[in-house]
Amino acid sequence: MTLVLGIETSCDETSAAVVADGREVRANLIASQIDLHARYGGVVPEIASRAHIERLDPLICEALRLAGAAPEELDAIAVTARPGLIGALLIGVTAAKTLAWAWGKPLIDVNHIHAHATSAALGIAAGSGGGADGASIWPAAALVVSGGHTSLFLVRDPCDIVMLGRTRDDAAGEAFDKVAMILGLGFPGGPIVDRRAKSGDATRVSLPRTMLGPDSLDFSFSGLKTAVLYHVHGAGRTRGGLERLSPGDIDDLCASFSAAVVDVLVAKTLKAAERCGVRTVVVGGGVAANSMLRARLSETCVRRGLTLHPTPMQFCTDNAAMIAAQGHHQFVRGRLADLSLAAEAS
Ligand code: KG4
Ligand code: ZN
Repeated sequence: MTLVLGIETSCDETSAAVVADGREVRANLIASQIDLHARYGGVVPEIASRAHIERLDPLICEALRLAGAAPEELDAIAVTARPGLIGALLIGVTAAKTLAWAWGKPLIDVNHIHAHATSAALGIAAGSGGGADGASIWPAAALVVSGGHTSLFLVRDPCDIVMLGRTRDDAAGEAFDKVAMILGLGFPGGPIVDRRAKSGDATRVSLPRTMLGPDSLDFSFSGLKTAVLYHVHGAGRTRGGLERLSPGDIDDLCASFSAAVVDVLVAKTLKAAERCGVRTVVVGGGVAANSMLRARLSETCVRRGLTLHPTPMQFCTDNAAMIAAQGHHQFVRGRLADLSLAAEAS
């Protein structure tokens, strides 16, 4: 049995977790900073760093207490070292290096996007056929959709991950957040647009699906966001159109926008699975919590005879459990970092 402490501070969630064997989550605490950033309409890097400093140490102590784990029982300390906001990453990396040195534990360097790509394995309950470390769900085509990233990977196993495509401009979550801002719905926009879309008509507003050519596994969402802006305000204007829209119009626009994003994500994920010859699809990252995306991926995978493992809702947005789980796989393969580990923004 391995016991790994995970630390996550790459953006605006401070999180500490203790995970056994890469799949049994003993504690997963998340201190969200949404209230601190909401009034600015987005994450303010300096505010995020300061909040991580205040919150991280108590969160680590509490995670160990809840897990009933003493520091000497830990096998390793895993931390998100990239990518993310540099000041925010530095807080987690510095804490992890300090504890690894003080407690004499191995340090594991985790790539945040790879952790999202493998987080679906946290949903495979022990004994349900996933193998001792969730290994049998791999190989899989993995869609990672978050506020900072939209990427497709072939995950042969958690330590063998190949990128197949990525966004050339906005991430899907960023598009949700910007559209919510255009519609005056608040921050973060993804969950609000998701909720409003449930009462809307997705066929009401015609919006573009940018495919970037028949073979491309890259994404582009900035044109879609601009199409929503023009729909609201009229081409060439950026203000003044919102008051013409009724609450029902906004619901329809949220549904039409969500459908445009989901169509592209589903089509390219299936293309990735087909191209790699895999029968399993996983999806992770904050936007993987989106109800239309989960429903459409699920229907399409059933129709094509593919197995879908969506990341459990509580592990979609940023959390340290996925960092500890990914850290476990790297630890058992001997992929250790040392105290020279540096945070990297990208
Ligand atoms: O993975 P995450 O917590 O942070 C990053 O690594 O970026 O993802 C946050 C993003 C935000 O853009 C948020 O609006 C989006 O995930 N999000 C959603 C939903 N829940 C969170 N987007 C669409 N529908 C949702 N239900
Ligand atoms: Zn993330």
